[in-house]
Amino acid sequence: AKPIRVALLGCGTVGAQIVRLLTEQAHELAARVGAPVELAGIAVRRPNKHRDVPAELLTTDAAALVTAPDVDVVVEVIGGIEPTRTWLLDALRSGKSVVTANKALLAEHAGELFSAADAAGVDLYFEAAVAGAIPLLRPLRESLAGDRITRVMGIVNGTTNFILSAMDETGAGYAETLEEAARLGYAEADPTADVDGYDAASKAAILASLAFHTRVTAGDVYREGISAVTPSDVAAARVLGRTIKLLAICERVGGDGGESVAVRVHPAMIPRNHPLAGVGGAFNAVFVEAEAAGQLMFYGQGAGGAPTASAVLGDLVAVARNLVVGGRGPRESAYADLAVRPIAQA
Ligand code: NDP
Ligand code: HSE
Repeated sequence: AKPIRVALLGCGTVGAQIVRLLTEQAHELAARVGAPVELAGIAVRRPNKHRDVPAELLTTDAAALVTAPDVDVVVEVIGGIEPTRTWLLDALRSGKSVVTANKALLAEHAGELFSAADAAGVDLYFEAAVAGAIPLLRPLRESLAGDRITRVMGIVNGTTNFILSAMDETGAGYAETLEEAARLGYAEADPTADVDGYDAASKAAILASLAFHTRVTAGDVYREGISAVTPSDVAAARVLGRTIKLLAICERVGGDGGESVAVRVHPAMIPRNHPLAGVGGAFNAVFVEAEAAGQLMFYGQGAGGAPTASAVLGDLVAVARNLVVGGRGPRESAYADLAVRPIAQA
């Protein structure tokens, strides 16, 4: 069958692992998709830094790559709002399906991206944007689409969990642990996005939008990070039989005036025997409550190059299969229940 041609935007912590997996698993992926999956090009900022990928694939011209006629799918692992927003909209409007790990972009511009994907009849997948390797968005978008989700709650930022766990377990300092999280590839390019809760707020906005079939943006989310959490707070929690975790909480709130959605991110003291208390390192864990299904728990590596690349590759296989057999993934714009609105946060 005709190869599926992939434009990769970014070859950093996550992108380099995508290239590795695409290369090492080329035969298995071709068998699973029903066609070879090939790299058409890799957009980076500094090509000289990338000596381990074929030089002929590298380009600094992402704008040209995303609309190149021989590209079928654009995989974006650069991050940030612009120019990635423009590139992904151009890609969708040119009929390319898109896979992205960019939570910051989705938390601000999902509506616009979904509309562009729907108008062009192409796919937009973003499993890696929330909770790294954990299959969580597909269950919310697809497996639970026949149920009524009432609450999504958990740990969705690996860097802050790594820091809080180290402070709790070894008494390690905040600054040195943040440095290690960056070295291990967990932290964002600007780690204040992690420690000040912006990354978790973006993820909470995406989770709430999918769970409640509405549009929640990062600005709708009440947000507190962990930069004010001190070693003595952690020690005090320990004395009380508790530990501190940064939680994201998305819930339906009812009322006579109709339903709305409350979304917040903040540190919380939780009992040490609570399942979330045992979530260490850069792991994430998310509880989902749905009326018929009851309580579900999702757990796994929430950050890092290979775990995130696993989620991206899963999306790429789904999109590529759709291209081979002619199907399409979920259409968020078509199914949004915009009557359920986020409530203003104090
Ligand atoms: P990195 O900073 O490691 O990599 C970013 C890549 O983008 C680099 O290869 C860089 O090029 C390239 N790049 C940056 N600006 C441009 C530009 N203007 N034109 C072309 N290329 C550019 O980031 P990560 O791999 O850690 O993260 C990428 C995305 O994945 C982000 O959206 C992040 O939020 C998301 N993500 C990350 C996770 C993680 O654990 N790291 C987990 C889940 C999602 P060069 O190398 O030449 O500088
Ligand atoms: N910086 C993010 C985190 C990466 O630490 O969770 C995964 O989204």
